[in-house]
Amino acid sequence: MSRRNGLDRRSFLKTAGAAAALGALGARNAFASEGMHFAAPSPTDPYDFDEPYSRLGTHSTKWDGAVADFGEQIEVGMGIADMDFRAPTCITRAIAERCEHENWGYIRIPDSFNQAVADWEMRRHGLEVDPATITRNNGVHPGLISGYHAFVPPGGRVLMTTPVYSGFYGSQRFARVVAEESPMHYVDGRYSIDWDDFERRVSRCNVFLLCNPQNPTGNCWSAEDMLRMGQICLEHRVIVFSDEIHCDLVPPGSQYIPFASLPDQDVVNNSITFKAVSKTFNLPGLKMAWYYSTNPDLLERIRSHTRSDLATLAVVATQAGLEEGDEWLDQLLPYLGENHRFAEAYIEENIPTMKYRAAEGTYLAWLDVNDVIEAIGAKEAAARHNESSSSERTPAQMVQRWLAEHAGVALNPGSSFGVGGEGHMRMNLATQRATLETALERMADALSRV
Ligand SMILES: Cc1ncc(COP(=O)(O)O)c(C=O)c1O
Repeated sequence: MSRRNGLDRRSFLKTAGAAAALGALGARNAFASEGMHFAAPSPTDPYDFDEPYSRLGTHSTKWDGAVADFGEQIEVGMGIADMDFRAPTCITRAIAERCEHENWGYIRIPDSFNQAVADWEMRRHGLEVDPATITRNNGVHPGLISGYHAFVPPGGRVLMTTPVYSGFYGSQRFARVVAEESPMHYVDGRYSIDWDDFERRVSRCNVFLLCNPQNPTGNCWSAEDMLRMGQICLEHRVIVFSDEIHCDLVPPGSQYIPFASLPDQDVVNNSITFKAVSKTFNLPGLKMAWYYSTNPDLLERIRSHTRSDLATLAVVATQAGLEEGDEWLDQLLPYLGENHRFAEAYIEENIPTMKYRAAEGTYLAWLDVNDVIEAIGAKEAAARHNESSSSERTPAQMVQRWLAEHAGVALNPGSSFGVGGEGHMRMNLATQRATLETALERMADALSRV
């Protein structure tokens, strides 16, 4: 295991409790022993995103889950969409302060919470949101499921442009609705809407689920594209659900435009926006999100299918991020942008069988591995596997397995992101640059030997 990156699994596991505790506090952020006084960095302090911060032994899906799935040879977890960095100081401090009060009865969420969401939207994205329309819940999936229950009859269809976030398929199955996939055009590493296909399919759907920025391709949709989508949906009486959970993670140089900011009020009134700062501040394990709409009828209908039971620490951490997390995020975004450029340059120079054009938004890299599939015979291996097994595997899943076994790197297979995803792997870049470099080096080395 790479000691250079502070990722010694065996020693970490032995001291997991102590290490996790120490890691959570850290030197600069440590509580003074005579109480819970918290030494936060001043707003001008640089955060250190290069700081090694092992998550092994903390039951993390990204690291421990990869070891559980692929075995001890896993050296680097680069799957799933969460981040490897230490949490922003303001969040650790808010949680610690709340923990000083040792009572965990029911929480009454303060009115200032919705105001914090509205202020964030205005400050970060120039969008005015009425705090009274913000409806909190336990995650974007529960919100989408409420929306399907409200607007899509069982067996009804939800349009998506693919490849798209794999988790959408699971919540649609759960809600007994059907994915209607409109594959995007893919030219020179960039994706765009196939408008004829989109328009042909939309007429048989109840909802269009937009992902902005799009996981896994990183597309930040332009106002023109979204207006066109929105107007087509309006014509066909199809409601737009806009999942904008990745919106805060757009590195300098690209722009996120909220669907709710489009200059056509009828289009905006035909939509519900689903958001969270669970990606922004890396809080997905705490479970909190919200949705809002400018249309009171849509809101009333979806709210009647929503039940939220929120945990106190989720509310505390989320509000702290919304109110005090700007500086941390402002420092993170250029780091993530550099990681995209680093991966792009490294792959170009050292991994001839992979292609990658730096994404516009998200911290996800969508790697074209069609030549890897050829080089390692993944199609043939999948066919052989499928002849003798009841659980089907795709060529992309064979690449996933091959990289896990030969490079010790865990990625997500493109085939789980719907039509058009095959031939790709998704790699999460929200990690220390040294860890990213290790993952790339290990893949380059393994692939140079085939
Ligand atoms: C586009 C998108 N929507 C929703 C989710 C799920 O978010 P949560 O776990 O906060 O519900 C994810 C997680 O990766 C995502 O990428």
